[in-house]
Amino acid sequence: MASITIRGLDDALKTRLRLRAARSGRSMEDEARTILRAAAADDVRSMAEPAPVARAGATPPLDAGPSGRRILLIIGGGIAAYKSLDLIRRLKERGATVRCILTAAAREFITPLSVGALSGERVFTDLFDPASELDVGHIRLARGTDLVVVAPATADLMAKMAGGHADDLATAVLLATDRRVLIAPAMNPRMWGHAATRRNLTQLAADRIAVVGPGTGEMAEPGEAGIGRMAEPLEIVAAAEALLATSPDHRVERSLRGRRLLVTSGPTQEPIDPVRYIANRSSGKQGHAIAAAAAAAGAEVILVCGPVHIPDPLGVTAVKVETAREMRDAVERALPVDCAVFAAAVADWRLAAPGREKIKKSKGAAPTLRLVENPDILAEVAHRKAKRPRLVIGFAAETEKVVAHAKDKLKRKGCDWILANDVSAETGIMGGDRNRVHLITAEGVESWPPQSKDEVARALVERIAAALKASGS
Ligand code: C5P
Repeated sequence: MASITIRGLDDALKTRLRLRAARSGRSMEDEARTILRAAAADDVRSMAEPAPVARAGATPPLDAGPSGRRILLIIGGGIAAYKSLDLIRRLKERGATVRCILTAAAREFITPLSVGALSGERVFTDLFDPASELDVGHIRLARGTDLVVVAPATADLMAKMAGGHADDLATAVLLATDRRVLIAPAMNPRMWGHAATRRNLTQLAADRIAVVGPGTGEMAEPGEAGIGRMAEPLEIVAAAEALLATSPDHRVERSLRGRRLLVTSGPTQEPIDPVRYIANRSSGKQGHAIAAAAAAAGAEVILVCGPVHIPDPLGVTAVKVETAREMRDAVERALPVDCAVFAAAVADWRLAAPGREKIKKSKGAAPTLRLVENPDILAEVAHRKAKRPRLVIGFAAETEKVVAHAKDKLKRKGCDWILANDVSAETGIMGGDRNRVHLITAEGVESWPPQSKDEVARALVERIAAALKASGS
């Protein structure tokens, strides 16, 4: 291996390197090699965030807040599983709550008893354990956490993750989770270098799975050495911290706990006859993103949505409707709520008398469709005397004089906030993934920069959480 000169570094860097080396029990030269190797492996990680290992120098507490961060630690079956016991201790030291899942293979190396004693939490092992499934369930395990850490991640576990398998509790949770996942691979150097493992690693990177390690050193097998040693517990802790710090969800995490939110989303379809209908181009992306962000922030979310081609977000109660009147009824049933966000593009009109049978084409005589106005759901809810949500938020899709029309709408509809967006064809907002909105409140207008619909959703959720808190209940 090439030798490394430490002399060229300035004193501050040398001190940091010495501290890191002391923490991981390596020489300074070995520590420098570890850092260089991590930097070289960066292209494999291909993540937007800074490489977790590169940030290993700072180890502030996982969460300064009293509630602590929640980590779900999946322990795979490898000799490195013993290091995971230390990892639990290190995470707990930093105020994190650590829940553990042991795979069947992991139980060959360490016991649920020792893991339970260290974590102070019940340990989960079995997908088909009726007691755990009734009590917590693999879906709640997957969601009731801020980060999932897999350590050690064996070659087999990585292959299952890359292939989307879900044949035990660990893999079912990994497939069901919407949280960031960090893996600490550990295996024999030949397994690590095998083309199949390389392929799986590339797939996992494409799936936004973060990787820490492996490092180089002696293997458990006598005489074997090379790359494949699981990262040290403190390196894993540092990588976990980096992920928690850069994940926007976690900044609003649970800020809506105990709140009930209603979101309408998508278009409505108003029947002309049994086969034809009036609709619009709304994709439901923005409304669904708001529902998802509110659920991620801990709210109980009722999503009332018209016909869309996107999946229901995780963790929301979705009520499917077709017409505006069905949407109004579903909204009424969902009350009371703390906040209602009306992102649906409700059809303004419906047919006065839709055909009971398919309207036949007759030469030279196009049918006349008589339209009547649909209920304005937003205005109705905003003007309610009883069960009015504390915060009623509407959307205004405009193609010209966006802010002026939205201000007018705020008054007319009686809502508290309006999010106005320009949906003229050239913006690509309708059906697209990005949005540019103006938040109009009684206090004034705030123009947000163009951003993804997910980012708009998260920003809105933060604002809602702050407003509900400020309103004093
Ligand atoms: O009047 P306009 O359709 O532009 O208003 C848009 C806002 O009003 C959106 O928040 C939309 O969800 C809501 N709306 C509604 N019921 C309707 C029409 C619009 O809730 N019938």
